[in-house]
Amino acid sequence: MLKPFLLFSAVILFLIAPTPAPTLASGRTPQAAAPASTNPVKPTAASQEKAKKLYAMDCAICHGENGNGKTDLAKDMQLTLDDWTDPKSLAAKSDQQLFDAIRKGKDKMPPEDASRAKVDDVWNLIIYLRGMSKGQPAAAPPATAPPAAATKPGN
Ligand code: HEC
Repeated sequence: MLKPFLLFSAVILFLIAPTPAPTLASGRTPQAAAPASTNPVKPTAASQEKAKKLYAMDCAICHGENGNGKTDLAKDMQLTLDDWTDPKSLAAKSDQQLFDAIRKGKDKMPPEDASRAKVDDVWNLIIYLRGMSKGQPAAAPPATAPPAAATKPGN
C-alpha cells in the first residue's frame, strides 16, 4: 500500500532535487562584478592616497580640489554641483548611489571608466568624498541650522 506513495515521492524528489543544482553550478556572473550596496572597502593610508590622486586627476577639475564644486569649469558648463565640504550634501545619498553616479556618469558628468578606477578605487573615492566635510573650518555652528534642513529638495 505504501509502495506507490514512496515511488511517487521518489519521482517528485527526482524532479525537484536537480533543479537548484544547475543554477548553482552554472557560472553566473561572479559576485565581485556587482557593486555591494554599502561600501565594502576598508580604507588604508595607501588606498586613500591613491583616491586623492585619482580625484585630483579626474574629478577636481569640476568638483574642485576641496569638493566644494566652485570651479571655473563648473561655471562655464553651468553645472550645479553639490558642495561636499558641507556634511549635509552627501548625507542623504547612499554609497551605492554615489558609486553609480561615478561609474555610470550623471547628467554632464562623464562615467569613470573601469580602466581608470577599479571597483575598489571607486569605493575608496567615495570614502575620500565623504571625508571632505571633515576637518573643515566650521562654516556655521550646527545650532543655527534650521530643523527642516534635513529634507533638502532633490536635484
Ligand atoms: C565634467 C565635470 C565633472 C567631472 C570631471 C566629474 N564630475 Fe561628478 N558630477 C558632475 C555633475 C554635473 C554631476 C551631477 C550633479 C547633479 O546631478 O546635481 C556630478 C555628480 C557627481 C556625484 C553625485 C553626487 C552629487 O553630489 O550629486 C558624485 C558622487 C560625483 N559626481 C563624483 C565624481 C567623481 C568621483 C569624479 C572623478 C572620478 C567626478 N565626479 C568627475 C560633474 C563632473
